[in-house]
Amino acid sequence: EPRMELPSRPELFDFRGVSMTHFFTDNWENVQNFKARPDDVLIATYPKAGTTWVSYILDLLYFGQTSPERQTSVPIYERVPFLELIVPKFVERLPTSPRLIKTHFPVQFVPKSFWEQNCKIIYVARNAKDNMVSYFHFDSMAMIEPDPGDWNNYFQRFMQGKVVTGSWYDHVNGWWKKKQTSPNVHYMFYEDLVEDTGREIDKLCSFLGLSPSEDERKRITGGVQFDKMKKNNMTNYSTHARMDFKTGSFMRKGRVGDWKNHFTVAQNEEFDEDYKKKMKDPTLQLRTDL
Ligand code: A3P
Repeated sequence: EPRMELPSRPELFDFRGVSMTHFFTDNWENVQNFKARPDDVLIATYPKAGTTWVSYILDLLYFGQTSPERQTSVPIYERVPFLELIVPKFVERLPTSPRLIKTHFPVQFVPKSFWEQNCKIIYVARNAKDNMVSYFHFDSMAMIEPDPGDWNNYFQRFMQGKVVTGSWYDHVNGWWKKKQTSPNVHYMFYEDLVEDTGREIDKLCSFLGLSPSEDERKRITGGVQFDKMKKNNMTNYSTHARMDFKTGSFMRKGRVGDWKNHFTVAQNEEFDEDYKKKMKDPTLQLRTDL
């Protein structure tokens, strides 16, 4: 009986102090030598913090009116390509200006050209508990990720930073620190977007110097709600060849507080204890509840 060959999962290894797989380091030299343009917009996140959501918002803000066909024919992960995965040549062929690019790099890995060119950078942070849960479900489904093991095992590994892109704690703290001295970094929170999408879009627009009409703003705010994006084949990753979501979906729940359905009481205590030690900056507060 012939069997379908399952793709083997990649190994996690330490790369300059950050846990990575080869997918994100194979192109290292090319990526580091990437030539940014001053009008490039970089979306930076820890994985599962709302990358796709903010990518879609930005794509609509910039191209929703000028290229409507883009919205119905090009999946979001092609409209907003992944810096670590792509050869610079591919980005150079992107037809649009500004070019929207996403990355999961911790701040110290961002190619220096983005800073030299004063590019606008949008960072999205999501509270660690929900981020962990979302990442666990994603890693369980996505064969391009290392095997997450069971929930309890994953819980420990996440706290140790032994997941792709390394420590969540270092990531959000590193970017937060950078934002204090870089007016080109706009730091947003997933929870704020859930609470009031329109307000967060307004803040984004004033950061980017955009002024959509009231109609346009309403259209975008409505179009990027979870249920809309879940149904939209151009934003729900259903067309992605490298991901096979037979057991779940990319647009999973889209809520704040789903961690309560996963964390045991003992895990929650252990987590909070550890969190206090790693998150010493009182100015960086993430909400685990709304
Ligand atoms: P859940 O797994 O908690 O549902 P990323 O794009 O960085 O990979 O993040 C994916 C997470 O963002 C998933 O979280 C996904 O459901 C959520 N998400 C995507 N679009 C969303 C939206 N419009 N509203 C709320 N959450 C959204």
